[in-house]
Amino acid sequence: MAPPCTPRNPVPPTVALAFTLLLSITFPALSSRRRHSPPAGCFESIISFGDSLADTGNLLRLSGSSTVSGLASARLPYGETFFHRPTGRFSDGRLVIDFIAESLGLPLVPPYVGGGDSKFGGQSFDKGVNFAVAGATALDAEYLKEMGVYNLYTNASLGVQIEWFKQFLVTLQDGKIFMENSLVLLGEIGGNDYNLPLDFGMRPEQVRSLAPAIVRYIGSTLQELIQLGAKTILVPGNFPIGCFPGFLTMSNSDNYKNSTYDPKTGCVNWLNELSIHHNELLQKELNRVQGLHPRVSIIYADYYNALLKIYLSPREFGIGKGMLSACCGGGGPFNFNKSSLCGFSLQAKSCEDPSLYISWDGLHLTEVAYKFLAQAILGGHHTVPHFNSICSFTSQVTGFYEY
Ligand SMILES: *[C@@H]1O[C@H](CO)[C@@H](O)[C@H](O)[C@H]1NC(C)=O
Ligand SMILES: *[C@@H]1O[C@H](CO)[C@@H](O)[C@H](O)[C@H]1NC(C)=O
Ligand SMILES: *[C@@H]1O[C@H](CO)[C@@H](O)[C@H](O)[C@H]1NC(C)=O
Repeated sequence: MAPPCTPRNPVPPTVALAFTLLLSITFPALSSRRRHSPPAGCFESIISFGDSLADTGNLLRLSGSSTVSGLASARLPYGETFFHRPTGRFSDGRLVIDFIAESLGLPLVPPYVGGGDSKFGGQSFDKGVNFAVAGATALDAEYLKEMGVYNLYTNASLGVQIEWFKQFLVTLQDGKIFMENSLVLLGEIGGNDYNLPLDFGMRPEQVRSLAPAIVRYIGSTLQELIQLGAKTILVPGNFPIGCFPGFLTMSNSDNYKNSTYDPKTGCVNWLNELSIHHNELLQKELNRVQGLHPRVSIIYADYYNALLKIYLSPREFGIGKGMLSACCGGGGPFNFNKSSLCGFSLQAKSCEDPSLYISWDGLHLTEVAYKFLAQAILGGHHTVPHFNSICSFTSQVTGFYEY
């Protein structure tokens, strides 16, 4: 039997005060929102921040029509599996956030950028709003620039996304209720803070030393969201990137000749250890913030171990082919070639059946892998505390099994 949804926590006085101040500067005419009971799940909406793992179209819209040709996710075979067209998602199909929305009985979460613009269908954000931008870092673009690391994709880092969110929040008639009844997804974010410096040739030890600053930034953003009224916040950690074709290819180069590999999975040890290090610091920070805000539910989503489980026993998950090679790529030992990327090159074709692969394009996952991750989270496994102690999905999600 599924336990019922837990009742909403009462609003702590400090947050209530913050909202009294906030409400006095809202624009009542702009919203026709009314209170109603949740449709099927425990939340009325989803608010999302992050990078390409959660971007449902923001980078595509930010890029504008002039540069769309330069964006992989604007081109087939991106989107081929579920949407049958490119949507700006960096996958063949749906992402974790899409599966979470479906399970809550909510529409897929629309991108914030261009919202209300009739060119993009002028969609409503009543049931969710997504600020995640592919390529985004947790740390400010300027901060990374000072280290010689340039983000060529976007400068809409986490801080920029939070600023957009605040601008959005004041347009609501009752931002407090919107926040209270929302599931807030904070991430995954921070992965690019390691990926970019590595790409710019920063040494592994130096990259690792960025972890405390990255995690601190995520922690202070979390506190800011709580001050704004967030009640349930899911914070995913980083993936075992040492298993990803893009990183395996990088490790194959002369610079990393001394890399060692895990004999059970074939993944690069030091890259996976980098993610483990980040995730340990992140969990400590989440525990610290949770201690300061006992009435808020902060949930850690262990993307690392949820995904590693597939690498350890792929057949159990029906992953028949591409353990360590990309479905869509330009050849080479891991079917990943930086000069011949999925979406750009005729040589980089999609595989016949993406559902047999974990990696879509060498850096992002296939829809089927994202679905496994969503199942792990929704079933409560690989979440701390168990997500299904806060909200149970089992009654709505037929066909989802727990693992
Ligand atoms: C981010 O980039 C956009 C477009 O390249 C630019 O207009 C904007 O000023 C930049 N913002 C910051 C904070 O640098
Ligand atoms: C590889 O060698 C470099 C020095 O050449 C060293 O800094 C690095 O820590 C080594 N990495 C591993 C995984 O042993
Ligand atoms: C990567 O792609 C480029 C351009 O198509 C090609 O010249 C190069 O040989 C490829 N490298 C590998 C290792 O396949």
